[in-house]
Amino acid sequence: MMDVVLVGCGAMSKHWLDAVRQIDGLRIAGLVDLDADRARARAREYDLASAVIGTSLDAVLDQTKPQAVFDVVVPAARREVAISAFAHNCHLLTEKPLADTPDNARAIVGAARSAGRIHAVVQNRRYVANVRRIRRFLDSGAIGAATSIHADFFVAPHFGGFREEMAHVLLLDMAIHTFDAARYMVAGEPAGVYCQEWEPANSWYRQGSSASAVFDLGGGKRFTYAGSWCAAGFRTSWESTWRIVAERGSLVWDGEDGLKAEVVLPVRDGLFDQTQPIVVPPLDPADRIGGHLGIIQDFVHAIEAGAEPETRGADNIRSLAMVFGAIESAETGRRVAISAQEGQ
Ligand SMILES: NC(=O)c1ccc[n+]([C@@H]2O[C@H](COP(=O)([O-])OP(=O)(O)OC[C@H]3O[C@@H](n4cnc5c(N)ncnc54)[C@H](O)[C@@H]3O)[C@@H](O)[C@H]2O)c1
Repeated sequence: MMDVVLVGCGAMSKHWLDAVRQIDGLRIAGLVDLDADRARARAREYDLASAVIGTSLDAVLDQTKPQAVFDVVVPAARREVAISAFAHNCHLLTEKPLADTPDNARAIVGAARSAGRIHAVVQNRRYVANVRRIRRFLDSGAIGAATSIHADFFVAPHFGGFREEMAHVLLLDMAIHTFDAARYMVAGEPAGVYCQEWEPANSWYRQGSSASAVFDLGGGKRFTYAGSWCAAGFRTSWESTWRIVAERGSLVWDGEDGLKAEVVLPVRDGLFDQTQPIVVPPLDPADRIGGHLGIIQDFVHAIEAGAEPETRGADNIRSLAMVFGAIESAETGRRVAISAQEGQ
């Protein structure tokens, strides 16, 4: 039995606890929130009568001595949670984003390394079947190497809460999913970015609800991102909509079930090379999916096997570097170089 303390009993904690219920051998030994009523409410809702409830993570870890901490707090509190978890010799699985600033990200990844503990991030958009299929399809070379990756994200949620007050809300709180997916799908290594952020007149956020960025993903690959968190109408999927242009064809994905590809034929019709549809193979049984559940299962397995999980912090920090590079570019109006060494 693996004991875990979950900290941060707000909206997302429900998804975590729903997943935990489906995993044998995991026990929630404690629930922590600055607002103890929220922790108590979750304990009642999930029949966790034996869980220790508290407002201080340190105190609950002292009392319960778990193997791992599940961090579902707001990004601004992530560093103190991580330092507390590692100081108590716990492995740590954390919500995205890994951290709210580059300094905090480096401090957290460094603390995990020094403590010799497993540290992973819930970058759950990777654990989506079509994201896995796209990666395999591109790896197969069926349409050649990807050269140009385009993602659009237009969703207009009224969350309330911390997002409406935080700076760089789209880039820091949501775009990390799309940036990480882009990096994963084309095996890219980000090298630089230009970005602009703005606040449309109709926005209900304090800052940074709309952004447009162009990344250099290495090897000649460019990734363009256009996003808004206050664009009502013609909503896109939470996964974004995608067009990936490769050397011998293209792939489009609507972020849901619509995934199609076309390959170029060696025949020209007037101005244009002929193209024909090409099947993107179904999910490979080895591909891990399942969103939060899949990531939590991988994290538990990594602890048991002494292995590093796919979404380990030391790798995820490179996707986060895309976020921080974009923020710096938006603030300075300049291209920002992204270091390949980030996180090593
Ligand atoms: N992976 C995803 O798809 C996904 C989706 C939505 C949100 N998230 C992430 O989940 C995290 C939480 O989001 P949410 O919507 O649940 O926020 P929320 O505001 O509903 O809940 C956060 C909770 O953390 C508690 N908290 C804050 N600081 C704390 C501290 N130092 N110690 C203990 N408790 C503390 C707050 O009291 C609150 O109850 C964020 O990082 C967010 O970006 C991820």
